[in-house]
Amino acid sequence: MKIIHTVEALREARAALSGTVALVPTMGALHAGHQTLMAQGRQLADHVIASVFVNPTQFGPNEDFNVYPRDLDADARRCEEEGVAILFAPTPDAIYPPGFATTIHVAGLTDGLCGPWRPGHFDGVATVVAKLLLIVSPDLAIFGQKDYQQLAVIRRITADLHLATKIVGAPTVREADGLAMSSRNRYLTPVSRAQATKLSQAMTRAWVAWQAGERDAAALVKLARDLVATIPDSSIDYVEVVDPDSLSDYTKQADPIPDARGAVIALAVRVAGARLIDNLRLDGPLPAPLAHHIPS
Ligand code: PAF
Repeated sequence: MKIIHTVEALREARAALSGTVALVPTMGALHAGHQTLMAQGRQLADHVIASVFVNPTQFGPNEDFNVYPRDLDADARRCEEEGVAILFAPTPDAIYPPGFATTIHVAGLTDGLCGPWRPGHFDGVATVVAKLLLIVSPDLAIFGQKDYQQLAVIRRITADLHLATKIVGAPTVREADGLAMSSRNRYLTPVSRAQATKLSQAMTRAWVAWQAGERDAAALVKLARDLVATIPDSSIDYVEVVDPDSLSDYTKQADPIPDARGAVIALAVRVAGARLIDNLRLDGPLPAPLAHHIPS
């Protein structure tokens, strides 16, 4: 595996690869969820390029940019285990050259969910992902569905900017008790880690109600929110039930949720200071770990 730090060297190494390329963009602190994305890349393409870049422009001034876990050696080992051909780990200067003044903003999709809680976050994500897609020019790029809104934003920029890369969404990888894997789970203490399982249980409650015919968005939100609210030392940014494509908040519409549209429950909760997000398609199958922990 080659480890490359500059745009020029990456372009040269990428041009030397024959066959198709899958890109797995990450911010490092790699875990089994990322490795699943890489394994999927190996199935879908001849070569996998992974990137590790803690993107400063997607963090707010009071967020965890400075403490975000960084361990390139450990990340490289995980990439190597998955047969990654190139690990692209650029410096901030390589991605944001002096005088950098271009930002991509996606309207509409970023109005709700994490948008208002993380001003500028999706501009940072959209800009860096567009850059990575233009630098690497992969045939496909794989992103986890845990970041549901991010995936929607990335699909939008790819379509709007006529980028040739196919965007692939990969199912969220969960711990045995249902907690979605995330680099930020490292911030949890054993006590808050145990409490964090209530996030997936809360979404499962809403899923069970949906399956039983509940189509009132406020009722679905309340079921989930009531359980999340029992987590000690936590605060809820949002629990929302949204349209799977437009991400519009169903509680702002008077009518019951139309079956033909389906619904996603999405939440962001600070558990003992760690901001965790998760989501679940209510009209889809219940992923195995959640099915084992259906709350009463
Ligand atoms: O999901 C992430 O890790 C990041 O937001 C991404 C897509 C790599 C952009 O920095």
